[in-house]
Amino acid sequence: MISRSQFIGLASLVTTAILISGCERPPMATEQLGYRGTGMEQVTNPRLTAGLAEVHAMPEAAQPPADAVGPKASEVFQNVQVLGDLSVGQFTRLMVNMTAWVSPEAGCNYCHVAGEQLDADTLYTKRVARQMLAMTRSINDDWSAHVGQTGVTCYTCHRGKNVPAYVLTDHPGQPPLAQNAGITYGQNEPSALTAWTSLPVNASLLASADAPIRVQPVNALPIEGRSGATIRQTEATYGLMNYFSESLGVNCTFCHNSRAFTSWEQSPPARTTAWHGIEMSRAVNEAYLLPLVSELPPERLGVAGDAPKVGCATCHQGVNKPLMGAAVLEAHPELKTAAQ
Ligand code: HEC
Ligand code: HEC
Ligand code: HEC
Ligand code: HEC
Repeated sequence: MISRSQFIGLASLVTTAILISGCERPPMATEQLGYRGTGMEQVTNPRLTAGLAEVHAMPEAAQPPADAVGPKASEVFQNVQVLGDLSVGQFTRLMVNMTAWVSPEAGCNYCHVAGEQLDADTLYTKRVARQMLAMTRSINDDWSAHVGQTGVTCYTCHRGKNVPAYVLTDHPGQPPLAQNAGITYGQNEPSALTAWTSLPVNASLLASADAPIRVQPVNALPIEGRSGATIRQTEATYGLMNYFSESLGVNCTFCHNSRAFTSWEQSPPARTTAWHGIEMSRAVNEAYLLPLVSELPPERLGVAGDAPKVGCATCHQGVNKPLMGAAVLEAHPELKTAAQ
């Protein structure tokens, strides 16, 4: 027999366990990422991660690899501005694969007008696709500090859709109620971007080279050097950090030792990779996405009339390595500038 007080104890224990576990049923899996006793653990739910490999698989290439020898695309075609270094076989292979990655339903006609010469730049989609080709090559050529030899293709972001599922746009918040009052700057509007916290995500942190992310003072009396971060700035940083975690499907401890968020010495190497990811996202947005504001139709723009921007989730889509780290560049060498 259990006594009344034992029963109450047991019942409250069970209730607490249910409350603590929230919507995710235990047992969870933990992986140690740092020294023992420092809380450097990655917590995952095996029942949620089990299906990831299937969802994040890179599809078979629609066209097999082509020979790099033979006449160049620049010699054979009329209006090739980015892919001139490819052989005609490689060029055609890329057109076919690109179609499968970005416009499987509309086919070639998503960018080329049926019956018109293929060199015509009539459709905005073709002009944007040219910009995308240059962007994808720049990521693979110049940003191996982030994407390694793994690389990216159009599929990394597009996944068979005309536009990627996750982009960032400016969020002006609610209109002010009265002059200087009630300007929310995106606060108190819980969003999936920030794991349903009411923190704002300030897209400009990933679109402008000098937007500050570091907010912790480095001296005891923060008067010189790095100091004076406002509450709004700090909230933007924490919003961004929640966005990082959501984008990669990881905890804060994937990149930080949570006893000292600011310290690089105590952070796992993933934080350095993430830092290059920030620099890459900013460079890509400034050079390739922001200029599209005059090219994209109005329905593609954000509520503030700004161009959609690339963020961590655009490529990662919930896993620490996009497409589970599949070596997509090796399978699609056309998306790197050929060595001259
Ligand atoms: C997502 C947009 C897109 C799709 C889909 C697409 N193309 Fe293209 N195509 C382009 C772009 C952009 C260029 C120019 C590339 C450059 O400037 O380096 C181009 C150029 C070409 C050219 C060279 C024309 C010339 O003389 O300058 C040919 C040929 C071509 N495409 C064939 C195809 C075929 C065949 C398909 C379908 C299997 C296809 N394309 C699907 C965007 C697309
Ligand atoms: C790093 C992520 C990323 C990669 C890689 C990428 N794109 Fe995009 N693409 C975007 C974003 C962001 C937009 C704008 C999305 C929007 O309008 O909501 C876009 C838009 C487009 C559009 C305009 C579609 C429309 O209907 O308005 C085309 C066409 C396109 N991309 C083709 C390509 C092709 C072809 C490749 C590969 C050579 C490629 N993209 C690679 C992120 C990417
Ligand atoms: C994918 C890696 C990654 C994840 C996950 C991540 N961070 Fe960060 N965090 C960084 C990087 C990189 C910086 C430094 C940015 C810079 O130097 O511009 C940073 C900076 C910070 C800072 C500012 C430190 C300073 O010096 O002022 C704080 C605070 C912070 N993160 C908290 C968090 C919290 C809380 C979480 C979980 C919600 C988190 N981070 C998740 C990579 C990450
Ligand atoms: C253009 C696509 C793209 C964008 C945008 C991008 N990443 Fe990545 N990221 C990758 C690829 C590809 C890899 C895998 C590299 C490899 O295999 O070495 C990667 C790897 C990483 C890793 C290492 C993961 C591990 O398990 O070691 C971290 C951390 C990371 N990214 C963080 C970020 C953050 C934070 C952002 C946004 C600021 C970001 N990434 C934006 C493509 C991208």
